[in-house]
This record gives sequence, structure tokens and C-alpha cells, in this order.
Amino acid sequence: MPFSTITLNDGRKIPEIAYGSWTLGNGREVIDQVEQGLDVGFDHLDTAQIYRNEEEVGVAFKESGLARNDVWITSKWSGAWMGEKQLGITESCKMSLAKIGVEYLDLYLIHSASLVQGRINEAWAEMEALQTAGLVKSIGVSNFKIDDLKTLLHKAKVHPAVNQILLHPYVYENTKDLLAFMKEHNIVPEGYSGLIPLTKQPGGPLDKPLFKIAKKHNLAPEQVLLAWVRSKHAVIVTTSSKRDRLERYLAVGDVKLSDSDIAELEKAGAKGHKTLGLWQKIALGVVCVVLGGAAGAFRGNF
Ligand SMILES: NC(=O)c1ccc[n+]([C@@H]2O[C@H](COP(=O)([O-])OP(=O)(O)OC[C@H]3O[C@@H](n4cnc5c(N)ncnc54)[C@H](OP(=O)(O)O)[C@@H]3O)[C@@H](O)[C@H]2O)c1
Repeated sequence: MPFSTITLNDGRKIPEIAYGSWTLGNGREVIDQVEQGLDVGFDHLDTAQIYRNEEEVGVAFKESGLARNDVWITSKWSGAWMGEKQLGITESCKMSLAKIGVEYLDLYLIHSASLVQGRINEAWAEMEALQTAGLVKSIGVSNFKIDDLKTLLHKAKVHPAVNQILLHPYVYENTKDLLAFMKEHNIVPEGYSGLIPLTKQPGGPLDKPLFKIAKKHNLAPEQVLLAWVRSKHAVIVTTSSKRDRLERYLAVGDVKLSDSDIAELEKAGAKGHKTLGLWQKIALGVVCVVLGGAAGAFRGNF
């Protein structure tokens, strides 16, 4: 069965796989790549203030000729600065709308809990106000841990629809509790960077079962990893510059891994997370520094 949708806690239906614009850079090349994604059949675009290519995403959407309600568009408040001033959630959202050139976003996320430490409830109230005003249809968070979600839920009028998180077999063992908490509170996971075991961490204990399972089902290894992300009932957030690879990603809609395939991947993943834990901590640290330090890197550019 091709990819379909997942129903969020606000009743809206989010397409199960998204095309992300993080690593695409900016300029005409990005527009062409996003257009390629839409042309192949992606109907869900994932961007963010800090990716600095919301405009290109918007141009690609417009040039595609697709209707607004044919494409789900997500953006994120990343805490960017303009000169000496950090842009707040409301003004950032309005800027994102203007850059993308749409009247509403399907989903707006707080990019990381590290951006709102000590003021999670105030930040979330702003997100709720954006939804009430109709600027965004659904609201959610990204890179929130259990304690961050507990703080948010304590005062929230609207529960976050999603939490967009790093999700692949090497981090699964450490993410299980968060996923269980999210399930309990009806918060849908969106899994990003699911291909890290192939792209950034090859050579670990996952390789053997991954390639074996891929061969057994006549699949590419990246398809097996994306099918694994899907097995966690998560929206897949991925990307590629290559048309044939994007077609293979979408074909994952027809892939169903067996319970034993999934268990084998997770057993190997759990071994990897111990040996690769340091790498993961460094990677997470980089995300925090990039988001937390958006000040220095992006002053004046918004
Ligand atoms: N919320 C957050 O903090 C956060 C963080 C990170 C990412 N994201 C979102 O998630 C999206 C995807 O992130 P990601 O790029 O890290 O995702 P990913 O799905 O793990 O990786 C996609 C990359 O994998 C490469 N790839 C695919 N198959 C491969 C193979 N067999 N061998 C080698 N390389 C292969 C592709 O390269 P080619 O272009 O060469 O095909 C592509 O650049 C981002 O664009 C962003 O929207 C969100």
C-alpha cells in the first residue's frame, strides 16, 4: 500500500513521509531539488527558519502548480536573530509565511527545547495563539525530551500534535521511553535522519543484518531503514538530491518488514548505541550549539 496519512490529535491527517530541505543549501538548485521531490510524488515539505531556504521551498511549491491543500508544509521556529534582536515565535512565523508565500502553515514546530528552557509554557502559549489566529493549522515541537513535554503539558491548552526527533536503530534503545510517553499522550513522532546508520555511522553492528534483510526482500538498505522508522508509527522526514533514490523512498510505502526483521535491526542497533554513544552525544551537542548559537551565525540574515 502506498504511503498514506497519520491522524494527529487535532484530527488533521499528516502525510506519512516528508521531503526535508535542511541540507539543500539555497538558490536555484534548491528550487529544482524541491520541485523534483514534488514531481516524484512527495506531498509533504519540511523546512525551518534556520535552514535559510524557506523562500526556495515556497518558489518550488508555486512553480509545481499544485494547490495549497495538495501539499503539507511544515516550518519551525529556530530562534534566529536579526541584528541584536532574537526573533520571537509570532514574528518568525509571520516571516516564514511571507518567505514561503502561503497564508497558513500546516504545521509549525518549536525547533528545540533548548531554545525555550525556563519558558516552555510561555513559548507554547504563543504557538497556541498562532493556531487560534489561523496562521498555522497544527502545532508541535521538535527535539523535546520527556521532562520538556511534561512541563509543556502541565499548562498546555492544546497538546502538541507531533514531536520531531532523531530516530534510527542506533538511538532507539535510548528513545523508547520518550516514544512510549508520546504514545500515551497521543503525540505523533516524526523521525528525522533515519539513514544515519548508512550515511554517518557505517561499519557498526547494524550493517550485517541491514544488508542481509535488504537482500532478502530485494530492497536498498535505505529502504529498510525508512521502513523501520515507519514501523514505529512515525512520520518519516528524509531527503535526497537524486530522483531514483526519492522514488525508492516512496516505494517504501509498499514495504512491510516482518517482526523478526525489526527485532534483528533493533538488537544490532542496541549494541551500536553503546559503542557509538559518544558520536551521538557530539552530534546532539552540535544541534544544540547550532540552534542555541543561531545568534552568531545568522545575525542580520533574516
Ligand atoms: N528537527 C530537527 O532538528 C531536524 C534535524 C535534522 C533533520 N531534520 C529534517 O529531516 C530532513 C532529513 O534529514 P537528513 O538529511 O539527516 O535525513 P536522512 O534521511 O537520514 O538522510 C538523507 C540523506 O541520505 C543520503 N542517502 C540516502 N541513501 C543513501 C545511501 N544508500 N548511501 C549514502 N547516502 C544516502 C541522501 O543523499 P543524496 O542526496 O546523495 O541522495 C540524503 O542527503 C532534513 O532535511 C530536515 O527537514 C530535522
